[in-house]
Formats: sequence, structure tokens, C-alpha cells
Amino acid sequence: MITGGAGFIGSHVVRLFVQTYPDYRIVNLDALTYAGNLENLKDIEHSPNYIFEHADINNAAQVNALFDKYKFDGVIHLAAESHVDRSISDPNAFIQTNVMGTANLLNAARALWKGNEDGKRFYHVSTDEVYGSLVETGYFMQTTPYDPQSPYSASKAASDHLVRAYGNTYHMPFVITNCSNNYGPNHFPEKLIPLFINNIKTNKPLPVYGDGKYTRDWLYVVDHARAIDLVFHRGRNGETYNIGGFNEWQNIELVKLLCKEMDKRLGREPGESEKLINYIKDRPGHDRRYAIDATKLNKELGWYPSVTFEEGLSKTIDWYMANDEWLNNVTSGDYQKYYSTQYQ
Ligand code: NAD
Ligand code: TYD
Repeated sequence: MITGGAGFIGSHVVRLFVQTYPDYRIVNLDALTYAGNLENLKDIEHSPNYIFEHADINNAAQVNALFDKYKFDGVIHLAAESHVDRSISDPNAFIQTNVMGTANLLNAARALWKGNEDGKRFYHVSTDEVYGSLVETGYFMQTTPYDPQSPYSASKAASDHLVRAYGNTYHMPFVITNCSNNYGPNHFPEKLIPLFINNIKTNKPLPVYGDGKYTRDWLYVVDHARAIDLVFHRGRNGETYNIGGFNEWQNIELVKLLCKEMDKRLGREPGESEKLINYIKDRPGHDRRYAIDATKLNKELGWYPSVTFEEGLSKTIDWYMANDEWLNNVTSGDYQKYYSTQYQ
């Protein structure tokens, strides 16, 4: 079972598994919140090894019924509320889904696997944000103490702790990965890169928070999916692996690069899109810098990002330029309400 498979990262994980493992039965459990979109999986939706189940991880009865029906032997858990800004305006949704939803899945897996844990695996997909905020130097290691600073990262940290506690207390076979910021096709345009591509395309202001000197480590989403495949199959039980892009960018430098690339695609004069940059009030509690040390994953499992940032960004921009319909669909309706509340 893959939870959250209709979302950004989940859809790339589902596609990779459906295409790589014809003899697996892959069940995608997703509640189709604002962030879930079955359009993301159009190309594989009729594959014989793929099943979609519309269900909510907050509903324990639904979760238990699905474990009963399919007798899952592996869970890759991505379903979550995932946007920091939304966690600031509505923390309870994050506590509910990310903490209680994860507990419901753990309870169902525990009940099904009890006394028969061999060959089973609960893979919890988490974020580097649980480690808190770095200053100019240093990296997040697997041993870095947790220090979450936003309701989103606190809820993810709580879920990571629960997974480890179930491992310790009930012998739940688990792995956890903590990954840096992803980018790529199918990314909902509330996060920095897709939001800014869409705004440049439609000539809207680019809302840069604070001084723009916040730093993130960006990874192409397909490389995250490749890492998940490796860790799911070959990661050691009870271990945590950090996943990162070896690719740090200050927001403002990244925004300028996006503007430059978009000028070329849109036939604009060089520098034209940069005029859209608009510094606005900072995000409350904004983490200054994230940077991952992914040496463990590299040394143990040989993983390394397969595309450079230039290649990944170029593929991403091409995808958004070629998928107007997808963008129009996800930015109509509720998105407009979210946008005006968040930015005006
Ligand atoms: P997303 O918001 O794009 O997708 C989340 C998916 O989960 C959606 O399909 C949504 O419908 C589904 N979902 C939400 N609540 C649900 C519920 N109650 N029951 C069932 N399904 C539900 O998120 P994403 O960016 O693809 O992130 C996926 C996972 O990866 C999350 O756990 C996130 O914390 C983690 N992560 C994300 C990033 C990133 O840069 N996006 C980086 C590291 C880790
Ligand atoms: P985001 O994509 O929300 O990811 P995260 O907060 O999980 O790292 O934001 C990436 C960076 O971009 C972060 O430093 C906040 C900043 N940002 C803006 O400056 N303006 C925006 O409108 C958004 C959404 C983000």
C-alpha cells in the first residue's frame, strides 16, 4: 500500500513501483484532499497491478477494512498535510492527519502483522524539517536532535517518534527517511517553485518572504522516488536515512534563475520577469536554512541524484509550460480563496 499516492511525491512513487514491479499489487490509498489529484496518475491508472482506494487515514475503520481486505505486507506512507503556510493558519488539520492518521495506519499494521513480522515493512516518509533550522554552516545528520519549529514539522516529528516507538515496543518492522525539499512535475502551486512558475507565466507578483535569503536543499522528485524504492527494498530494518539533493539555494537566487529561464521560454526580454519580484512580510517562525547530509544513503545503498538541478529545473518548467490544463484545474475554485487569504 502506498498512502498519499495521488499527491505530488506519492504519484511519482506509485508510477515508479507500478512500472518497475509488474508482479506487485500496488494499492494507492488517498483521500483526494485539495492536494490529491488522480490526473497525476492518468498514464498508469489502467495498469493491471494498480488499484486506487478512496479512503481517509483519519478514519480507523476504513483503514482497518483495507488492511483486512488486502493483507498488505508493505506500507509506504506519504499521506499528509504538507504545506507549512497552511499549518500556520490551521494546525489542527496537521495534528489530525499527520499524527492520528499515522497512528491509525500503525495500529492496523500492528494488528495484521502481530507475531508474523518477518518480511513486513512500514516505511514512513518524513521531512528534514523535523531537525529544525540551521545557520550558515553544518548539515542535518541522522543523529541531529529533533527541533521542529512549525506546526507542520512538529506534526511530522510526532509521527516519526510514533513509528520508532512502535518499532521499539511492538517490534514493528520500519524504516524512516527524512528528505529535503522536492521539486518537479505535478507539484501543487502553493509551494515555492510551482507557485512562482505559475505566477511568472501569468504575470503575477512573486511573493518573496522576508529578505529572501532563506536556504533550501532541492531534490528532483523522481530521485526521491528512486531513493524510496531503494530504501523500501534494501534499507536496514529500524534505520533512518536522510535524503537530500546536495543542492542548496538561497530563495532569491533560485527565484532569479527561474525568472531567467522563464524569460527564455516566454520570449520575454532578459530581466523582464524579475520585475515581478515582490518582497513581502516574512512567514512566522521561518526556518533559515535546511541542508541534508545524505552520505549514509550514498554509502550504504549507492544512491545519488540522477539529474543535475539545471536538468531537473528545465524538465520541471517544460512540464508546467506543456500542462496548462492541469494548472488551470488545480488553480480554480478553492485555490483562489487560499491565494487571496495567504497573500493579500
Ligand atoms: P502533497 O500535499 O502533494 O500530497 C499529499 C497527499 O496525501 C495528497 O494526495 C492528499 O490527498 C493525501 N492525503 C492528505 N490527507 C489524507 C488523509 N487524511 N487520508 C488519505 N490521504 C490523504 O504532499 P507531498 O509533497 O507529495 O508530500 C508527501 C509526503 O512526503 C508527506 O508525508 C511529506 O511530509 C513528505 N515530504 C515532502 C517533501 C516535499 O518537498 N514536498 C519533502 C520531504 C518529505
Ligand atoms: P516552501 O516551498 O513552502 O517549502 P518549505 O517551507 O517546506 O521549505 O517554501 C520554500 C522556501 O520559499 C521557504 O523558505 C519559504 C519561501 N517562500 C516564499 O518566499 N514565498 C512563497 O510564496 C512561498 C510559498 C515560499
